[in-house]
Amino acid sequence: MFGLSGDINKSRAWHKLAKYARKMQKVNMAEMFAKDKNRASRFAISLDNMYLDYSKNIIDSKAMLYLLALADKAGLKEKIMQMFEGDKINLTENRAVLHIALRNRDNHPIYVDGTDVMPEVNRVLAKIKDFSERVRLGTFTGHTGKKLTNIVNIGIGGSDLGPKMAVEALKRYHRKDMNFYFISNIDGTACAEVLDKLDPETTLFIVCSKTFTTIETLTNAKTCRKWLIDALGEPAVAKHFVAVSTNAAEVEKFGINVENMFEFWDFVGGRYSMWSAIGLIIAIAVGYDNFEKMLDGAYAMDMHFKNTEFASNMPVILALLSIWYVDFFGIRNQVIVPYDQYLNLLPAYLQQLVMESNGKSVDLNNNFISYATSPVIFGGAGTDVQHSFFQLLHQGTSFVPCDFIVPAISHNEIGNHHEILLANILAQSEALMKGKTTAEAAEELKAKGMSASKITSLKKFKTFKGNRPSNTIVFKKIDAYALGELIALYEHKTFVEGVIWNINSFDQMGVELGKQLALKIMPELQGEANPAAHDSSTNALISLIKSLRK
Ligand code: F6P
Repeated sequence: MFGLSGDINKSRAWHKLAKYARKMQKVNMAEMFAKDKNRASRFAISLDNMYLDYSKNIIDSKAMLYLLALADKAGLKEKIMQMFEGDKINLTENRAVLHIALRNRDNHPIYVDGTDVMPEVNRVLAKIKDFSERVRLGTFTGHTGKKLTNIVNIGIGGSDLGPKMAVEALKRYHRKDMNFYFISNIDGTACAEVLDKLDPETTLFIVCSKTFTTIETLTNAKTCRKWLIDALGEPAVAKHFVAVSTNAAEVEKFGINVENMFEFWDFVGGRYSMWSAIGLIIAIAVGYDNFEKMLDGAYAMDMHFKNTEFASNMPVILALLSIWYVDFFGIRNQVIVPYDQYLNLLPAYLQQLVMESNGKSVDLNNNFISYATSPVIFGGAGTDVQHSFFQLLHQGTSFVPCDFIVPAISHNEIGNHHEILLANILAQSEALMKGKTTAEAAEELKAKGMSASKITSLKKFKTFKGNRPSNTIVFKKIDAYALGELIALYEHKTFVEGVIWNINSFDQMGVELGKQLALKIMPELQGEANPAAHDSSTNALISLIKSLRK
């Protein structure tokens, strides 16, 4: 059994936390720093070159002990083992959850239904290596014998966000004579804008879809296929289209030879799939060696997560802090701010990872739940976002816990750009924590020579309440290994949250209703309306849009 035997929010561990949180809500972080010279080192964890400073949170040792007790109450240790051992912890779909098998670098057997999955995982990794190297070297050519230099990933959700984020993050390692594109949105513009830039003779399409039934991906793939056939004829498809899927039958039906298909398996969730052949475009972009380094980094985090006591376990601590604010402070948002331009797609990637995994309201015991689960995740690259939503982070009516992600070295150390960037990160987390009192604000205005009445009228606007929590994750620089570690960190953080909330983090039934209704509405946009099927708002919108399209 994977679910908890009772409601977690009825447990003693939960009640103790709730009581203690009420006390901690009145505590000031700056005062705790002043009292405890060792606070920064006490609330920090490192692994390889990665360092997590979580001291700027509204916690003390007792809060951490109570949070760790909650993890124990939820049976976290056992649940981590169940995942790593291939138990079918995705209960609603009766599947194992084994993205960790994709980067199981010591290659020990992992069994699902009595079969070791590793030989299959290794077979596909060898296929990725072989194919990516041949494309990079130009020994796998297009139909007319030209090198394939434009690589296009067609996919959506987990079949897009992971590879797109990683290809962007590792841009400095790209093969320079190749270009990489992503088509995801069903909006024809997404397809048209990419195709406009391409020459069919030098273009390789990778159609990524776990199910191979996703309407956006199949529609985009059909459009690209037609574009290719119009230029080079039907026989060219075999040299310009490959597929990544769990569904060989649908791939064949689509017209892609299964020899050109890279398999993955139902024990890999879409949003956990960049380590599988869904990452083929990553291997082509940065080379298989770098792809393997990414797996190595993830494996290092897997081992840390599996083997480290919870008090010094990065994913566990991040998850507990998240639960602390969501369930005991009533905070419903979290913000992710990577201070590296190459990581600008990370927040979008994490939105799917976190919100599709844990945006749930039924527990594993089949009951609607009465406590809060996933926060809303948003974010963007620093320093850009400092000039947009940071106003709210500093002076909004409630706080938003922040993850600052910081490579100490930039790939582009131009002039003093990176020192300015680094100074900004450190300043932001300090400012959020310390704030500025109204008295300090008044003092500053006075020092500028302002009149007493002007000071009175401005000082509250210049006040920063502070006591706003953040985590800072520092590593040396963004390379394949560090990226692997970072993504695995957030994957496991998400898993831990799901375990404590007693939900299944590995299905996504919430995306289905909209898809079903879209299928009903589509014929109405093309032909007869069916007013009985909808509410008056939807009917009016259907008829308005139809009239505007005439
Ligand atoms: O609609 C959500 C979803 O099912 C995601 O979970 C998934 O990553 C995405 O669609 C794409 O699915 P597929 O890889 O099967 O095309």
